[in-house]
Formats: sequence, structure tokens, C-alpha cells
Amino acid sequence: MHYADVPAQINIRHAEIDDLDALEHLENATFSYNRLSRRSLRYYVTGKTATVLVAMQGGKLVAYGLVSFRKNSPIARLYSLAVAHAASGLGLGRRLLAECEQTAIARGARAMQLEVREDNAAAIRLYQAMGYREYERVEEFYEDDSTAICFEKDLP
Ligand SMILES: CC(C)(COP(=O)(O)OP(=O)(O)OC[C@H]1O[C@@H](n2cnc3c(N)ncnc32)[C@H](O)[C@@H]1OP(=O)(O)O)[C@@H](O)C(=O)NCCC(=O)NCCS
Repeated sequence: MHYADVPAQINIRHAEIDDLDALEHLENATFSYNRLSRRSLRYYVTGKTATVLVAMQGGKLVAYGLVSFRKNSPIARLYSLAVAHAASGLGLGRRLLAECEQTAIARGARAMQLEVREDNAAAIRLYQAMGYREYERVEEFYEDDSTAICFEKDLP
């Protein structure tokens, strides 16, 4: 599979088991709630139920996106998307999300769904800018009881 360079020196590729340390570090640095454990990250990186993409800059893992799939379901789920603070605001979230969508299309998905905390303004703006529309709100979704907004986008 071919992945574009984003921006010039950033390369997006599939995650490998050797990325686990860096993935765990990024997860802990970017999320303060509902973090994925190392065990879960390993499960997704090595298993067939998900695709994990990582963005590398100068040998450093600076972002990742995780798309999960359910058997016989045409709906893919963006389970996680995170960009390191040092690399944020450069368009990487947008490009990584686009690559996640391409991955979902390649696996036969017809739509992508995701949940985002209602106070996560940056992520909500990103999803809206990328064509996602809100279809539901779920109270007490996160471990601190905050509300999730559920977004969906039809994939071509
Ligand atoms: C949300 C996140 C992935 C965005 O990544 P990013 O690489 O900084 O985003 P981009 O540079 O691609 O920006 C794309 C769009 O997102 C929105 N956005 C990004 N950062 C924003 C901010 N601080 N405030 C408001 N909107 C923001 C904007 O609409 C932006 O488009 P624009 O630059 O044309 O205005 C990143 O901030 C992050 O990892 N946050 C912590 C983890 C997280 O919350 N993940 C989402 C869980 S659902």
C-alpha cells in the first residue's frame, strides 16, 4: 500500500510491534482519560480487527490513528487519533484521518464512525472540517462520566 508524505518529511506507514514503546508514550502524552493500555495497543497492532497507522518524522513516531472493524459490518470505527503536541497544528491530524479513511475503504467499509468528548474542541473542528456529521450524543460515555458526541461520515 502506498502512503503519501505528510508534510514533506513525515512518512505514514502501518504500525509494527517495535512501535509499541513509542505508541504507549504518545497515548499517555496525548490522552488523560480512557487511555489505551499497552496490552490493547499490542492487540490492535498485531491483530486483524484493526489497522494502526503511524506518522514518522526523523525516526520519531509523532502521530497515530487506529481504525477498528467488525466482521460483516460495513461501518469502520475511528477508535483513536493522536498527534504529539510538538507536531500539532501542521495538518497531520487531517492527513492521518484521510489515510485512515483510505484504509477503511480498502477494507470495504462504507462509513466511518467515531466518538469524541464534547469538550474536545480541536478534534470536533477537525472532524467537522473533514465532513463528519453528528448523529448522537451519549451521556456518561467516558470514565469521568463526560458526554460523547458520535460522528459519522459516508465513505465513497
Ligand atoms: C485533535 C488532533 C488529532 C488534531 O491534530 P492536528 O494535527 O493538530 O490537526 P491539524 O493540524 O490537522 O488541523 C486540522 C483541523 O483541526 C482543527 N484544529 C486542530 N487543532 C485545533 C485547535 N487547537 N483548536 C481548534 N481547532 C483545531 C482545525 O479545524 C484544523 O483545521 P484548520 O487548520 O484548517 O483550521 C490533536 O490535537 C490531538 O492529538 N489531540 C489530542 C488527542 C485527541 O483528542 N484525539 C482525538 C480523540 S477523538
